[in-house]
Order: sequence, then C-alpha cells, then structure tokens
Amino acid sequence: MTRLSVNINKVALLRNSRGSNLPNLIKVARDCESFGAEGITVHPRPDERHVRYADIAPLRSICTTEFNIEGYPNEKFLNLVLANPPVQCTLVPDDPDQLTSDHGWDTITHESFLSSTISRLQAAGIRVSIFMDPVDRLIEGAKRVGADRIEFYTGPYAEQYKENREQACAPYIAAAHLANGLGLGINAGHDLNLENLSYFKNNIPRLLEVSIGHALISDALYFGLKNTIQMYLRQLQ
Ligand code: PXP
Repeated sequence: MTRLSVNINKVALLRNSRGSNLPNLIKVARDCESFGAEGITVHPRPDERHVRYADIAPLRSICTTEFNIEGYPNEKFLNLVLANPPVQCTLVPDDPDQLTSDHGWDTITHESFLSSTISRLQAAGIRVSIFMDPVDRLIEGAKRVGADRIEFYTGPYAEQYKENREQACAPYIAAAHLANGLGLGINAGHDLNLENLSYFKNNIPRLLEVSIGHALISDALYFGLKNTIQMYLRQLQ
C-alpha cells in the first residue's frame, strides 16, 4: 500500500498572498483527511512564504493521519520539529532561498551532520526520512547515517517521463531494490501528478508513501479538492 500525503504548502501560499486567513489551512488539512488523504505534509521554509512556523502547532494538533514536516535541518527547524513532534520528519538539503527542492542529500559529505541530526530526532520518537537521488553509494550512505526511510526526489523522473518512461524510472527501480535490501523504507515526491504517478507506483517495489503538493492543488482548481484526492488515490491502487 502506498500512502498519499498531501503537501499543503501551496494552500498556505494562497492564504499568505492576502494577509487574511482564507483559505483556512486548518480546515483544508482536516478536509484533505476526510476526503481520503493518508497524511499531511508541510515544508516550512526560512522565509515563511508557504507554511509558517506558527502554523505547525495547530496543524499537528488536528492532524489525525500522518503528519510529516519537511525541511532543511537548521537549529530553528529542529527546535520547531522537536517542540511539535510529527510522525515523520523529512530532511531536505535546501538552500534558504531555494524556489523548490531540486536535489537529494550527499550522504557521504554530510555523514556526521546527518547522523547526529537523525539521532536527535529519533530520540524524540520521530521517524526520519531523507530526500535522495537514486544513486547507489548515496543510498548506502543513507543507511550508514541511520535514516529510517529515503524519499526519492522524483523531479528528473517527471521530466523524462513523457519522452521515455521506462528510462525515466529505471534508476529509481534499481535504487529501490538496493534500499529495500538495506531495510530502508521508500517514500517519493516532487512533480508527481495524475499522469506519471501510477507508472511510478507500479514499478517501484514497496513504495510506502508519496507526498504531492503542486500538481494536486493545481488539479483541485479544476476538479475540486475532494474529487482530486480521490483521483490521486485511484492512481495508487
Ligand atoms: N518532497 C519534498 C522534499 C518537497 O520539497 C516537495 C515540494 O515542497 C515535495 C515533496 C512535493 O513536490 P510537489 O509540490 O512538486 O508535489
């Protein structure tokens, strides 16, 4: 079974654009869950252009599915996560002003930083996933630093999907076999959409979770949030 976690950053972006509380992020998170989402993902960035730090505590308190906080683990982020422990924290090697995440961790260069950060979070009972490219030696590094799961950065898959989906998926399939063999759980996210999701899901052995924001929220403009979530869930069956 692959869980669908809805990333609600784009909803917060819309709210922030007018300085009011519309759309109401808490209501949207609750509704996503009641429409079938199996998780809520947020990515508080340092400039707070999407989800704000102040959103995290109320969201965590209402979330009844899997709450996933993702981001670059600076001290401010770690304090936020430790004060509001989610089920899962996904560590992403983002620069502070990055438009969106566009690469995974170099688990060899950052081995000691990742090891100590992951142990801190795990000591608080938080499952830790790290954002990764499908590269064997880096995935072996993810095991060494103690990650529970990896989240594949699927941007390159999505980009190549239209030209050659077999080729686009091949590195992820190989990396998934390696990760499964090492006992690492597998999540995936970035640029997944109604067109490319089911092929990825059907080809990646034991894909535990996808987190999807941009395309899902964009689709909701046309189909409505409830229908859209159901459509994504169908792709995952
Ligand atoms: N995973 C990570 C680590 C991300 O940073 C993002 C984007 O915030 C996503 C998944 C979701 O990507 P998308 O918005 O393209 O669905």
